[in-house]
Amino acid sequence: MKKVKRILATILATALLMSAAACTAVDTKTTTTAAAATTAADTTKAAADTTKAAADTTKAAATTVFKVGVAMPTQSSERWIADGSNIKKQLEELGYVVDLQYAEDDVQAQVNQIENMITNGANCLVIAAIDSSALVNILAKAKEAKIPVIAYDRLLMNTDAVSYYATFDNYQVGVLQASYLVDALGLKDNKGPFNIELFAGSPDDNNATLFWNGAMDTLKPYIDSKQLVVLSGQVDFEKCATLRWAQEVAQARMENILSGTYSGGQKVNAVLSPYDGLSYGIAAALEGAGYKVGTGWPLITGQDAEVMGVKNIISGKQAMTVFKDTRVLASKCVKMVEAVLKGTAPEINDTKTYNNGVLVVPSFLCTPVAVTKDNYVKEVVDSGYYTADKLAS
Ligand code: BGC
Repeated sequence: MKKVKRILATILATALLMSAAACTAVDTKTTTTAAAATTAADTTKAAADTTKAAADTTKAAATTVFKVGVAMPTQSSERWIADGSNIKKQLEELGYVVDLQYAEDDVQAQVNQIENMITNGANCLVIAAIDSSALVNILAKAKEAKIPVIAYDRLLMNTDAVSYYATFDNYQVGVLQASYLVDALGLKDNKGPFNIELFAGSPDDNNATLFWNGAMDTLKPYIDSKQLVVLSGQVDFEKCATLRWAQEVAQARMENILSGTYSGGQKVNAVLSPYDGLSYGIAAALEGAGYKVGTGWPLITGQDAEVMGVKNIISGKQAMTVFKDTRVLASKCVKMVEAVLKGTAPEINDTKTYNNGVLVVPSFLCTPVAVTKDNYVKEVVDSGYYTADKLAS
């Protein structure tokens, strides 16, 4: 019996030991799991803290680093390439993030680009419109999103969603072109009559009308006195306009005028051209009709002091251009961007001229300069706009 008891006791002890061991094992397991859970929880918390810190940093950055969307019309003309890169450079130097887009004269593409800028959280928009009146709806969206808009060089028409306008004195551009012709032809000394043909810019660009008005106000007394004769009879803006400032459109119109009006041996003495790009087309038409630089070549005006334009001035193919320093314009525009983002007041020098149909847009007008063979070195080389190398043929 004792033996049976001893066996039972041993079994019991073993069972107890095993159960204790089991308990210990469970405890150990529990401890391990708990430890793991604690570590994971800490890690998760740490990660969450890090994420929060990162979010805070991003938030802080978002409130201090402003995004500026810059919508430019086309890269087919040198000036807009220079404008775009000057604005981008100057804004980036101030710490802004810049989204610079060109729409290649496609109005809908420009609308889409501006839409993307709004969606991507632009804090300010700088816009040189392709069609000054085609952005009304998208600008209303910008206004709704409380994004201030600066009109760059070309006024934004029929909208109240524009804060400021940075440009040149556009009327004066036309005055400079026409005054050059008046002086070079000796019209004040009653010389003449001279045959002149007239070109205007794109009818959807508000600037084109101002250039035209400045030029025509200056030329009109001499057209009236018949010292200047527009042999084609095309003297209205609509007739003389060149959609989208296209060189080939100007060339085709000049070819038509030459073959239609000048086929009897009459000669063109002067051409009012509002932009270097058009002047190249006009010159090509004249060459095609047998005109030669140096012998009876007409005086042709221009604008923008493009490299080719200045080279043509040096060679005698073009008489003058109007230099508009895009570095200066960009810096005025950048000041406006800073003002709207920081709530300060930018420099304004015109509060009367630029009525866009809804409001008179406070503007800064930079000064355009007439450039000829006599002063191109001073204006565009010595000023650092172009290197002398760039203008060498
Ligand atoms: C600008 C001119 C330019 C023309 C064609 C106008 O709006 O003011 O500088 O020559 O567009 O690009």
